Amino acid sequence: MKTAITELFGIQHPIIQGGMHYVGFAELAAAVSNAGGLGIITGLTQKTPELLAKEIARCNDMTNKPFGVNLTFLPSFSAPPYPEYIAAIREGGVKVVETAGRSPEQYMPALKAAGIKVIHKCTSVRHSLKAEKIGCDAVSVDGFECGGHPGEDDIPNMILLPRAADELKVPFVASGGMADARSLVAALAMGAAGMNMGTRFIATKEAPVHPNVKKALVEATELDTRLVMRALRNTERVLKNKGVDDLLEIEREKGATLRIEDIHDQVAGVYPKVMVDGDMGAGAWSCGMVVGLINDIPTVKELVDRIMAEAQRIIRQRLTGFLDGVEVQKPARAVA
Ligand SMILES: Cc1cc2nc3c(=O)[nH]c(=O)nc-3n(C[C@H](O)[C@H](O)[C@H](O)COP(=O)(O)O)c2cc1C
Repeated sequence: MKTAITELFGIQHPIIQGGMHYVGFAELAAAVSNAGGLGIITGLTQKTPELLAKEIARCNDMTNKPFGVNLTFLPSFSAPPYPEYIAAIREGGVKVVETAGRSPEQYMPALKAAGIKVIHKCTSVRHSLKAEKIGCDAVSVDGFECGGHPGEDDIPNMILLPRAADELKVPFVASGGMADARSLVAALAMGAAGMNMGTRFIATKEAPVHPNVKKALVEATELDTRLVMRALRNTERVLKNKGVDDLLEIEREKGATLRIEDIHDQVAGVYPKVMVDGDMGAGAWSCGMVVGLINDIPTVKELVDRIMAEAQRIIRQRLTGFLDGVEVQKPARAVA
């Protein structure tokens, strides 16, 4: 399949694996790129720029296909040394950076000078337009369904994607709630040039996380995510668990007076406990509503191949079948 996104990034399939804290290591990024998509290493999971350089080198050893690095710009008192992270990315020969969080504006000159393509993740049309204006090559449009930070507008992709299509000139991918061929075809129909998946890629053989995490994703339904930190305007969609129940209780008690310190135990240092130790009750970790569509743990290649094969079938048979007036059966339940 050829779209503006496959052409922009030099990839075979219009499927991107979004940066994920403590999940986006070289193993997963390389597996996605080797399967024909765009794998992404999560920059800040590597505690220093030197460690990121090593992770990029490991990924270069595992694939000769393009892959990217995610740089998340967080509101924080002690900002990570972003210029040095960018130097590690440049020196590692990485040609794609997925930015997220705050605007990447101040780092655009350095990224562009290094010949790096930038795809910025946005949860609104206005932020997408800003990204386009400051020179981003593409946008990842993240709907309210998404795992992680959906922003504060609460607009689901059924509305957000066509709105983005109406306004943007640069290509964009649909992010949030994407799991299978149906997601991909729907995203393309709404004007996107591909899709970005987070949660779905965690439930794959190559994702380097504790087996308990994958099991929890297979068992959970679309009813099992919760929104936390709304009062702090730092909303995050997470998988419900004991730590999240405690967090929500504190949020209820504190109301509008909630401070980040109040929920420190339920949000700080949770990722290694969940992803490495498999402690599923540890606290808040990002997970999308799409978890309700995850029923198995395939290899990344099986997942990507199945999405692309099924997408072809949907387009060539089901959709053109409607136009040709052929009676079309309800499609079988997609496994992906
Ligand atoms: C466990 C997990 C960790 C994530 N960590 C990050 C991160 O560090 N930086 C970032 O930009 N996005 C992060 N995300 C968001 C994903 O890149 C992606 O935008 C999101 O998962 C898309 O929604 P989906 O889960 O419905 O596919 C994370 C998502 C998950 C599920």
